[in-house]
Amino acid sequence: MATFAINYFLQTKLPDVGTTIFSVMSKLAQENNAVNLGQGFPDFDCDPALIDAVNTAMRSGHNQYPPMPGVAILREAIAKKIADLYGHQYGPATEITVTAGATQAILTAVLAVVQAGDEVIVIEPAYDSYVPAIRLAGGIPIFVAMELTSEGYSIPWGKVQESITNKTRLIMLNSPHNPTGFTLQPADIRALSQIVENTNIIIISDEVYEHMVFDQQVHESLSRYPELAHRSFIISSFGKTYHVTGWKVGYVTAPEFLMTEFRKVHQFNVFTVNTPMQIGIANYMVSNQTHIELADFYQQKRDLFRAGLKNSGFRLLPARGTYFQCVNYSAISSLSELEFSHWLTKEIGVAAIPMSAFYHDSLESNIIRFCFAKRDETLKLALEKLKSL
Ligand SMILES: Cc1ncc(COP(=O)(O)O)c(C=O)c1O
Repeated sequence: MATFAINYFLQTKLPDVGTTIFSVMSKLAQENNAVNLGQGFPDFDCDPALIDAVNTAMRSGHNQYPPMPGVAILREAIAKKIADLYGHQYGPATEITVTAGATQAILTAVLAVVQAGDEVIVIEPAYDSYVPAIRLAGGIPIFVAMELTSEGYSIPWGKVQESITNKTRLIMLNSPHNPTGFTLQPADIRALSQIVENTNIIIISDEVYEHMVFDQQVHESLSRYPELAHRSFIISSFGKTYHVTGWKVGYVTAPEFLMTEFRKVHQFNVFTVNTPMQIGIANYMVSNQTHIELADFYQQKRDLFRAGLKNSGFRLLPARGTYFQCVNYSAISSLSELEFSHWLTKEIGVAAIPMSAFYHDSLESNIIRFCFAKRDETLKLALEKLKSL
């Protein structure tokens, strides 16, 4: 049999990327039969009416390519939702594109506007797709770490300002914030507005948890602020809103001059997103307002989870939005975050994610993240195991 000596050198484009911590911890949870509060996905199903709506779309013959930016009725439903909630009227024809989840929207937006050598401000801890997206575009991530006080995490806007140079092209923002549960406040919006005023800086605002904001806060979507909306890609995810993370359908809104560039990349990236889900989601959105109940739904889970940990050795950090609860475990263990997460999974039977996974230099702060997007029974089972610590 002939053997082939393949002797070429392939330089990886993403030298720092390996298997994500989310897959590692989910596998470990499975192997150890642990309650998986690691990876961020619900363990309950979506509204059956949503499944019916997609089913009906398939059976009605909506199974061929839709238009490149998404089906019109879905873009119209998205425009209406944003106008109702945040008061900004996006044009469905030119300013809204349906994407294969938020991750594709983020990558596509970065590829559309970042040129080789451009600098991009990344606020850490950060969702793990941001930096690889920037690197694939040839951009340079400039890291600014959030500050942690007894009030919780905050964005040090002075440091963001100091990091701006004439090469800064983009600021990546995320609110409500994964993993910290931080939410943007009016003072943050003022600081951000001052920083970008009179610059050409573009913003990617990752708002996938827009409907999970607790304690009667309002979600500070950048679409509420015309001067910010005019320079922003705002990204959301139906996976998060409708408990269907596996469907990978989301959307991006932006002013036309940005959306034109976005669509140039989008059409050669995925071209478009599967038709029946788009039609199904659109029809569901027209007759259901379930996104409005989402904050209460998750707040009840957050409160259940926090109450269960109250007398444990975990110190609970504020959780103002998202479906994540961060805790400091320094009263329980001096292990590193990764070691502690492994120990917790194997010995206690509950999986979590180390906070260090969200920093480029694996910064250690004795903090882990739990996901509470789980059935109450699942949360109670986990709490039973955690409360003795
Ligand atoms: C902050 C943030 N952005 C984007 C995403 C990706 O969303 P999607 O599944 O729609 O790609 C996630 C998912 O965990 C996330 O937490």
